[in-house]
Amino acid sequence: MLEVSNLHVRYGNIQALHGISFQVKSGEMVALLGANGAGKTTTLMSIMRLPPPEGPVVAEGAIRYRDRDLLPVPAHAVVAEHGIGLVPEGRHIFGNLTVNENLKLATYARRDPAQIASDYDRVFSLFPRLAERRHQRSDTLSGGEQQMLAMGRAFMSGVQFILLDEPSMGLSPLLMQELFRVLKQLNEAGTTILVVEQNAHLALKYSHRAYVLEAGRIVIQGDSAELAQNPEVRKAYLG
Ligand SMILES: Nc1ncnc2c1ncn2[C@@H]1O[C@H](COP(=O)(O)OP(=O)(O)OP(=O)(O)O)[C@@H](O)[C@H]1O
Ligand SMILES: [Mg+2]
Repeated sequence: MLEVSNLHVRYGNIQALHGISFQVKSGEMVALLGANGAGKTTTLMSIMRLPPPEGPVVAEGAIRYRDRDLLPVPAHAVVAEHGIGLVPEGRHIFGNLTVNENLKLATYARRDPAQIASDYDRVFSLFPRLAERRHQRSDTLSGGEQQMLAMGRAFMSGVQFILLDEPSMGLSPLLMQELFRVLKQLNEAGTTILVVEQNAHLALKYSHRAYVLEAGRIVIQGDSAELAQNPEVRKAYLG
């Protein structure tokens, strides 16, 4: 579904990715692991085509999605036409809007009212907390509830492929597990997922395959269950 080949990315003179290659197949949940500054967010931003100066510049390489070249595609079309959604680091929900309003905003580009209605039901059944708080202003939600809303919004945008940037950040261990269980349910219901995580325990427990990024290079890759047993991974990322 997604094929990234030999991707070199820079911010001005800073080279953030040194020729990474990886794939995500339709129906998979794939994890991208790595320490601070490894290039995880840069990888997601490159796929989403966020433009400079805020975004990274692809210097070399290819990003293909369903056999189409994503590099010439503008950011808004990546979501609306290609069906890729991002749950960014730090959530970025609209604090002065309610839960319902945030979810509704995510559907703006959709033209399938019946499916939208059933997607609302699905989000509220996956996250009963959001259902209870649907009329509450989003900036008064707890951190964990805001993360649920950010995931709900990506789902409401009707995309088939969701990229998540450290969804477990700042959450209690219990809530982290809950979020990953929901992600797994979304994945089993047909959404393909690429999740960036520093919490390797969680990511390897729930994903099918994983890649480890170190200083802009992929240094380890494989089935998540095998990586969880890999001595190098255990030493560096599983404590
Ligand atoms: N806008 C920018 N301008 C210049 N350099 C940047 C910019 N954004 C990121 N970088 C640099 O690119 C490298 C990769 O950053 P990136 O944000 O992709 O890392 P990350 O793996 O997501 O880290 P973290 O786990 O801390 O979020 C870092 O060295 C960072 O300083
Ligand atoms: Mg990051």
